[in-house]
Amino acid sequence: MDFRSDNVAGVAPEIMAALAKANEGTSASYGADDITARVERRLTEIFEHPLRAFPVVTGTSANSLALAVMTPPFGAIYCHEAAHIMVDECGAPEMYTGGAKLVPMAGKGAKITAADLDRALADAGIGEVHHVQPAAISLTQATELGTCYRAAEIEAIGEIAARYRLGLHMDGARFANALVHLGAKPKDITWKAGVRALSLGATKNGALAAEIVILFDPVLAETFAYRRKRAGHLISKMRFVSAQLDAYFIDDLWLRLARHANAMAKDLAAGLLSVPGMHLLHAVEANEIFAKLPAGILGGLRRAGFSFYDWPGAEPGTIRLVTSFATDPRHVAAFISTAKNLASAAA
Ligand SMILES: Cc1ncc(COP(=O)(O)O)c(C=O)c1O
Repeated sequence: MDFRSDNVAGVAPEIMAALAKANEGTSASYGADDITARVERRLTEIFEHPLRAFPVVTGTSANSLALAVMTPPFGAIYCHEAAHIMVDECGAPEMYTGGAKLVPMAGKGAKITAADLDRALADAGIGEVHHVQPAAISLTQATELGTCYRAAEIEAIGEIAARYRLGLHMDGARFANALVHLGAKPKDITWKAGVRALSLGATKNGALAAEIVILFDPVLAETFAYRRKRAGHLISKMRFVSAQLDAYFIDDLWLRLARHANAMAKDLAAGLLSVPGMHLLHAVEANEIFAKLPAGILGGLRRAGFSFYDWPGAEPGTIRLVTSFATDPRHVAAFISTAKNLASAAA
């Protein structure tokens, strides 16, 4: 009964089967195989736009390499202060970009707004030799707090990116969760809204280890392959990474898996609303719930066998619950009933 993260889950059976199938015979190495080519073609159809797509095996490398093609070493990358690139990547974006500076911004629900960006850029010292020069904006979709940017919000940020000639990057470690929540088409929340590079994740949503950097701008793609190799992220047996992505997109598996994860989060949040003393901290729009519960209930839940994280930096009693493609509805029901029983016992 594990609600610690979506990457505590295993691998979706369809993806495991695809890995076994890719294990038959031999295949060209370093991404020159048929499966890798097929994934790129399929993504071109899904996003309804020409693109280049580069598989990697971690979200950190996807984000850092995508940012590296958008930013000179003296560049500034604007992101939310809670962004994974800002707090959870151990300086990898700074390293891969050769020293670009991340500029953290505040914003409700881990989202930055076009208005705040506009103000920050007006004050950024563009053309001033003493200051880093604005080069990119990075948004996370779904955000680190489980909320989603609407297409109009991304478009407004895309307009600013175009006005200041900045690259717009999207960390889509949970892109599928956002897509199904919004009921949007992939193009509506990416290139049509101004996104030029997308780190599209699969690991949190059923893959073993597979992410793919999608570049909608051929100029950005020119140096990507060299940067990936130099960074040690060109996998020689690439077909096994690509096989996961291939299966991920067949028959909309990625959307089915994300729908389940999101539905489990919605059910869990709805059930918890009737637990006295429980507060939801953010709208539940993807597969993460941030809630505050009395300490006694949290201790009781843990003793009953439920795992989840206390959320660092938040008020005591704040926890994060994450659901996944593999979350068992019985575990959701058991969490809710245990929390209710603990609350009644305490009353
Ligand atoms: C928003 C976000 N981006 C990217 C990642 C990918 O990180 P990793 O390098 O662990 O695959 C994560 C994983 O926690 C994440 O939550």
